[in-house]
Amino acid sequence: MTARVSLAVAESEAPPVTTREFRRAKPCTLVIFGAGDLLHRKLMPSLFHLMGDGLLPDEFAVITVARSQLDDNSFRTQVRDALKTFSSNGGAGLDQEAWDRFATHLHYVPGELDDPITYETLRRRLAETDAAMPSGSGHLFYLAIPPSLYAKAINRLAETGVAPRVPDPKQRPWVRIIIEKPFGQSLESAVALNACVRRAFAEHQVYRIDHYLGKETVQNLMVFRFANSIFEPVWNRQHVHHVQITAAESVGVEHRARYYEEAGVVRDMFQNHLLQLLTLTAMEPPVTFNADAVRDEKVKALRAIRPITLAVMHDSSVRGQYGPGTINGKPVPGYRQEPDVAADSGTATYCALRFMIDNWRWQGVPFYLRSGKRMPRRATEIAIQFRQPPHLMFPLPEGQIIEPNTLAIQVQPKEGITLRFEVKVPGVDVKLASVDMDFGYAEAFGELDHDAYETLLIDCMVGEATLFTRSDEVESAWSVVDPIIDFWAGKRPDHFPNYPAGSWGPTVADEFIAREGAKWREP
Ligand code: BG6
Repeated sequence: MTARVSLAVAESEAPPVTTREFRRAKPCTLVIFGAGDLLHRKLMPSLFHLMGDGLLPDEFAVITVARSQLDDNSFRTQVRDALKTFSSNGGAGLDQEAWDRFATHLHYVPGELDDPITYETLRRRLAETDAAMPSGSGHLFYLAIPPSLYAKAINRLAETGVAPRVPDPKQRPWVRIIIEKPFGQSLESAVALNACVRRAFAEHQVYRIDHYLGKETVQNLMVFRFANSIFEPVWNRQHVHHVQITAAESVGVEHRARYYEEAGVVRDMFQNHLLQLLTLTAMEPPVTFNADAVRDEKVKALRAIRPITLAVMHDSSVRGQYGPGTINGKPVPGYRQEPDVAADSGTATYCALRFMIDNWRWQGVPFYLRSGKRMPRRATEIAIQFRQPPHLMFPLPEGQIIEPNTLAIQVQPKEGITLRFEVKVPGVDVKLASVDMDFGYAEAFGELDHDAYETLLIDCMVGEATLFTRSDEVESAWSVVDPIIDFWAGKRPDHFPNYPAGSWGPTVADEFIAREGAKWREP
């Protein structure tokens, strides 16, 4: 039996404590390379909302550089259509006055990435936007292009001097570059890309995006762990039995099979998002809340992950691919039936991994990570499962155990935190029941209505790098997943598909976790 108890924000006279200076972007020009999905679905709606919230200065410009032969006006029309379609609030606030104000900030440069003329035109347009801004205004370059073109764009930006190296973070005007995921396809390619980046820029100029770090609940992990004193003493091997991190998606591969066939679930979700959730859960408390102190601790946690060697591969990993099935009562095709997927594709759309962390805090505590497409619902959560009480004085019916305490941090879609514990059921008998104490963001603070990209864009503009991955962090994450990717690449799965769409993954994944005395949650 599960009862629910709700928590609200405590009544307090004190205003909320802010950890950083109020963040409003300073005058700058954002240059976005690429006018694809990311620009239309995420970047433009985020910029529009930021403007609506008064977080962008009047002296702000966006120059989009892409191949289509458009002028400023026709590009603006495209953006307006995108805002209507993709804004999280369905384009609310998109009245004529707001749109006119936003549109004046948008500029477009048509051109090929490889063509020197593109950079000459861009230089000219930058000079024009600079002329309307206070001196010393920054330039932020955003690579929203296919990853295979990152190196080319970085090299051209450096050679032409359009995006110069700025050795000192305090130097003005500042120049920064945002690089989207995936950052490399393997450790080797990530090292090569980092080398290319390093030849062109100083590390402080580089912002590698993992949009999970912009999610409110992911940022809250640090506040929850390090601004409360009651959790830290139990956040270790003495009290924690295991940790489960789940990122379940109900969507399939959608229209992205060309990319996904090459990537698969480990590159797509584990190397970045799931390992980020793991590091924030496992890391030691940083000394200060600044980018390097936080990232130093995250890198230490990644480096402490015990390598999954061939000898333990079988006991540490499960892969799967969805077949046809049903989601929300509707039949959906299997992965191999999706457009652009090979009829005999061996690409994994599901993976479960067990990691051990070799340090004092976590010795002997398994971290189970799993992610899959076409699961019954969208749910991302981190669940800390605590140990059973060492001795139970209450008589329980034969074969029954009490449920362990679990702290579940729901990252999405219902953002919140739940603590499960045991209570006595009222009555003359001593009967135990589990209850959930729930904190929901929506009930406490209203619906979260801003996208992760809004936080991340503002952070780049103000020069706050805590929520971005550093070069050593990205390489350490690849070192963790590379052996699994390589092992699977050398061993064609003859058992795919092995889970129906709409299920919680292959049955072998249940057996895998059951062998260790645990059970998957259904978040
Ligand atoms: C992306 C992956 O990085 O993250 C997608 O490429 C995945 O395959 C997406 O669907 C999940 O992000 P979110 O924010 O919806 O959990």
